[in-house]
Amino acid sequence: MRRISLVSFLLIYGSFAAQPLAPAPKAAPLRELPWAQLNFLHTTDIHGWWGGHVQEASFSADWGDYISFAKHLRDRADADGSDLLLIDTGDRIEGNAIYDSSKPRGKFTYEIAKKQNIDLICSGNHELYKAESADGEFFHTVPDFKGNYLASNLDIINPNNGRRQPLAPRYKKFKTKNQGIRILAFGFIFDFTGNDNNTFVIPVEQTVKESWFKDALRDKDIDLILVYGHVDVRSAEYALLYKTIRSAQWDTPIQFFGGHSHIRDYKIFDSTSVALESGRYMETIGFMSIDGLRTADSDKRPAQQQKSKVTFSRRYIDNNLFSMHHHTKKNETTFPTEHGLNVTFAIGEARDSLGLGERYGCAPHDLWVSRRPYPHDESIFTWLDTQVLPQSIKPSERNKKAIIITNTGGIRFDVFKGPFTKDTKFLVSPFTSGLRYIKDVPYKSASRLIKLLNNEGPILDMMKDGNTYLQPPEHVAAQYRPDMYIASQSQELHSYTAQDQTPLLGGSEDELFPGYTTHDDAGKDGDDTIHQVIPFYQVPNCVQANIGFNTGDEDKPEVVDVMYNEFIQKWILLGLGYLGESYTSEDTHSYADGKSFTNIMTEWVKEHWDVASEECT
Ligand SMILES: *[C@@H]1O[C@H](CO)[C@@H](O)[C@H](O)[C@H]1NC(C)=O
Ligand SMILES: *[C@@H]1O[C@H](CO)[C@@H](O)[C@H](O)[C@H]1NC(C)=O
Ligand SMILES: *[C@@H]1O[C@H](CO)[C@@H](O)[C@H](O)[C@H]1NC(C)=O
Repeated sequence: MRRISLVSFLLIYGSFAAQPLAPAPKAAPLRELPWAQLNFLHTTDIHGWWGGHVQEASFSADWGDYISFAKHLRDRADADGSDLLLIDTGDRIEGNAIYDSSKPRGKFTYEIAKKQNIDLICSGNHELYKAESADGEFFHTVPDFKGNYLASNLDIINPNNGRRQPLAPRYKKFKTKNQGIRILAFGFIFDFTGNDNNTFVIPVEQTVKESWFKDALRDKDIDLILVYGHVDVRSAEYALLYKTIRSAQWDTPIQFFGGHSHIRDYKIFDSTSVALESGRYMETIGFMSIDGLRTADSDKRPAQQQKSKVTFSRRYIDNNLFSMHHHTKKNETTFPTEHGLNVTFAIGEARDSLGLGERYGCAPHDLWVSRRPYPHDESIFTWLDTQVLPQSIKPSERNKKAIIITNTGGIRFDVFKGPFTKDTKFLVSPFTSGLRYIKDVPYKSASRLIKLLNNEGPILDMMKDGNTYLQPPEHVAAQYRPDMYIASQSQELHSYTAQDQTPLLGGSEDELFPGYTTHDDAGKDGDDTIHQVIPFYQVPNCVQANIGFNTGDEDKPEVVDVMYNEFIQKWILLGLGYLGESYTSEDTHSYADGKSFTNIMTEWVKEHWDVASEECT
């Protein structure tokens, strides 16, 4: 009790780095970092959230704080002779106004990212959707992290000479600074097919047969193989890499780092091979440690002395200053470094220059992507298909009726009760695409489309084959991890048990507040902060809004406009074809000159939630 009140004292009197608007972190019981011989900090799927979360205390630290945090842990490694490596596994762009509302879009992102000393970095799929952002990697991120950026299965057309080449080296071998651990590292991306035509993703199945890869694996003077990538840790791609590497090196420890599915997860492949995935949006700093590795020096020792057992530990750190201070044994005066503060300041200036605080309206209550079932008054999708879309969209002609189908993955984040700002706009819907439509589709077929896009069947099989998913990434992940839904809904609120925990900082169950409660291959003790469970409900691939009629009406329309967000056009056309209506992209039209869905939503907010005169907190 005494310690928790000291902590409360610090919280009350502390001045925080983080962004000026960000709420102070809340004190909570913590698990310690399992520091060891080799340690890692891992970020993934940052999607431009360099400023952290200014509306959520648990994730309110920013990239500048992360820079200070990493500096203190590097100092610790140097002091005790261990090692620390920083890893980022891609999707650094798209999903936050700092990226999406700046002109050009990468204006701040590359400058901010490069301020952190990342030891191993790679591309995600979002860097590759558009030729410009792939070129951004070529011109900025690759040179900024020269020698640390790997592209094991990714080529680009060199914009300077038009020739195809690897975006970055395929792999590298290096020795850690203090321990001299010899590491062979690869940087992958999953078998992504939605990239623009200036990049080439080489399927992992093909990569593992290439001679450079086989040659690299022949090296026996290696203490650890490190595979990091923008790849779900439970994917077929990592399963194949694991199998291939294991058959070449039967006892070398293999550490995987993954991403893309936006969740916390830890997979145990075998007793010397594991994989860590560290969430999304600067919510999580993944911590991983390995003990008992051989080193270049231990090779020289007699064989019987080398047989130490390799052990792995993981921790998912909530990205806030309460956690960071605790894990570095610093306080608010000793924690921030000059470099970190400079970056925090630069992020704040970027946010100010973009006017992200501009208020469009005031949300009357929370709207959730996953914390409420669909349909539900507090489901963001119910809000879209009963209010925003029907009240905003006009069919092609007067009195025409329409259905609008949008995919749930187009919505990236929740709306919290209170100010809906320029910041919120891009968090919820960062994508630039608009709506398209097909005129006069027989209602009989149009009305069956949604089932085809949502339920098992030929269209879903084709999506899977093409690695295309229409749901938010964490829901795609849940398709392979059914207990994500069951666990969150059936668990008692205070679900952790005494044997789950390593010693805690203090506090009692009564003080817990909602947050991540991860269940992975090593159990339920991975999160650094002990939380109450947050519900996680299933959402469909697509949701539908009706314009000018209700599904329950007696008089069904003969024909309707079929409207949809551009991203799913291919699937709409395939679905209609399957229902016997043959249309091609020639039959489709752009709605309202391509006005983006983001702007349609924002205009609705201005019109319906503009309560300028009212209090909005
Ligand atoms: C890529 O597509 C664009 C049109 O979107 C086209 O102009 C260009 O020639 C294509 N490049 C290659 C290498 O195919
Ligand atoms: C922070 O730590 C330093 C060094 O241990 C100490 O001198 C200082 O009083 C602490 N500050 C607070 C506010 O606790
Ligand atoms: C921080 O910013 C100041 C002012 O721009 C600069 O003089 C200083 O060198 C920077 N320090 C670090 C460590 O980046």
